[in-house]
Parts: sequence; structure tokens; C-alpha cells
Amino acid sequence: MIKEANLNGGVVKPFHHIRRATIKLLARACIGSDFSDEEFDATMDVMVEEALKYGGDARIVDTFPPARFLPNVKRAIMQMEKLKILVEECIGHHLASPPPPNCYAHFLLSQRFPREVTIFSIFEVFVLGLDSTGSTTMWALGLLVHNQKAQQKLYQEIRDHATCTEKGIVKVEEVGKLEYLQAVVKETMRMKPIAPLAVPHKAARDTTERFMESSKEFLGKRGQCSFLPLGAGMRACAGMEVGKLQLPFAVSNLVNAFHWSNAVEGEESNLSEDFSFVLPMKTPLEARIVPRGI
Ligand code: HEM
Repeated sequence: MIKEANLNGGVVKPFHHIRRATIKLLARACIGSDFSDEEFDATMDVMVEEALKYGGDARIVDTFPPARFLPNVKRAIMQMEKLKILVEECIGHHLASPPPPNCYAHFLLSQRFPREVTIFSIFEVFVLGLDSTGSTTMWALGLLVHNQKAQQKLYQEIRDHATCTEKGIVKVEEVGKLEYLQAVVKETMRMKPIAPLAVPHKAARDTTERFMESSKEFLGKRGQCSFLPLGAGMRACAGMEVGKLQLPFAVSNLVNAFHWSNAVEGEESNLSEDFSFVLPMKTPLEARIVPRGI
């Protein structure tokens, strides 16, 4: 991201960087903690984008079979068939030798599921875990660019209460104790819930401070169900615990490393929403970053 900022007068488009970092994280959870393969990351990036682009149209035939004759549905089905082969090759290749214990692939293989089930269970983690966290992180940054007071308060909390590593990284085990960070993350999810097919709605105003009350937990307490950004019950987010750590970890480190502001001074970035799988921004976030301490 620093390289991009240097080449572009301090302005970056962070989404691509967050997406790639998330692929690396999910790949380690799925294939092994030492896993590192740039080619896999790049292929996964493309495969998830294709799945999100064509998956919706292709699945219309499940409920309305005659739709298969519509040109866009026909095309989507063809693309999904090609994608299926690519996913099998890409993930299957990494299952050829036994994956280390403590990873999702090891668990799936130990259950002796059919090979296809193992491969697509892994792919599902990427499809559902990539843009959900990526989009939510973008919304958090966008809202913090708009609300400089909240960004400063968050930065101050990190300076005062987080013990960082030698490289200045906020430790993942510390994000839970940063109250204002948690409030920022929860408020982002309240204002911009990425849940697919959520009823269209809009938050009228910023209420970050109300999340400072400890009673507003992710799943509510004792029947209190007022805040469910990760769903609930049988259909709740399977990656809930990853998301609850990854999101504050990414936001706190991005704010600790850089000051974020409008790409063009005085021109507010567009925070309107697009209609898609995980509520992306209509105009991908572009922001000016300045490394802290300069
Ligand atoms: C900020 C981050 C995230 C948010 C807000 C979020 C939100 C959600 C929501 C609301 C659902 C339920 C959708 C429904 O009712 O149909 C869901 C499902 C799911 N999520 Fe997430 N998610 C996040 C991150 C992740 C991550 C990081 C992963 C993977 C590691 C993940 C994997 C899944 C899976 C596999 C399901 C399907 C569960 C099922 O139907 O059995 N999510 N997510």
C-alpha cells in the first residue's frame, strides 16, 4: 500500500490490498499455517470474483428452470462450469499431499467426504469470507475518513491502551480490550450491514458512542436480539469468530499506521452503496494516507 501511495501522490485504493491480505489469512486457516503461494492468491482472487459475478444468475434455474434459455443465464451457467474446473484444479492441487493438522482441509479430509465436497467447502470459505470482511473494512475506513474526530479518538485509544509488537503492529489478542475500536466496528456493521438480501434500510445518524455500553454485544444478551450483523441461529455466519477478530485487527492497524483523509482535499468520498452480494461501495474507496509520526 505504501508503494502505491508513493507512486500516486499519497492516494491509495485499499480494497485490493485488504482482499489479498484476507486471501492469505483464509488460505492459512484452510490449508495450513505455513501456507504461502502468490499464484494461489491471485487465482483465488479471480475465482471468487467470478463466483460472485455469475453465481446469482446461474442459480436462478434452481427455482425457475426455464430461465436457462435466457442469454445472460446461459452465459452465467457456462462461466460457472468453467469456474468449477478451475476451482477443482486450484484447490485440489494443494490437497495432493496431506495438509498439516489444525487446518480446515485436514479436518475435511479426516471426515472422508467426497473430494468435491472437501474442495467446495474450502472454496465456500473464500467466497463468503473474502468480500464480507473486505467490504466491511472499506466501510469502516470510509466512515473514519468522513469522521476525523472518531478517527483521532480511535488512534488515541490505540496509542494509550494497545501494546504493539516491535514492528508497531497492534496484537490480535489485544483488539478485544480496545473499547472504542469495538464500538467503531459495531457501528460500521450497524450502518453498513453486508448481509445478503437484507431488507433495504439506512441508518439515520452515527451512534458510535452507544456501543461503548457493554450491553450491546454482537449477539445480544438474554434474548436481546437488536444487533445481529453476523446473522443468528442455524444460518449464522460460520466465520463469525474470524470476522470478529479480523475486522478490528485490520481497522486498528490501518489507523495506527496511517492517517486517512479524502483523496482530494475538501472533496468528500462517495459513501453510497451498490446493489450486489455484500453491499460494496458504489465508488471504491480512494483515500490519502500519511504514515503516522511524520
Ligand atoms: C465482517 C465480516 C462478516 C460479516 C458481517 C458476515 C456476515 C454473515 C451473515 C449475516 C451470514 C448469514 C447469511 C444468511 O443468513 O444467509 C453469513 C454467513 C456465512 N459466513 Fe459470514 N460474515 C463475515 C465474515 C465471514 C468470514 C471471515 C467467513 C469465513 C472465514 C465467513 C463465512 C461464512 C459462511 C461459510 C456463511 C454461511 C453459513 C451457513 O449458511 O451455513 N463469514 N455471514
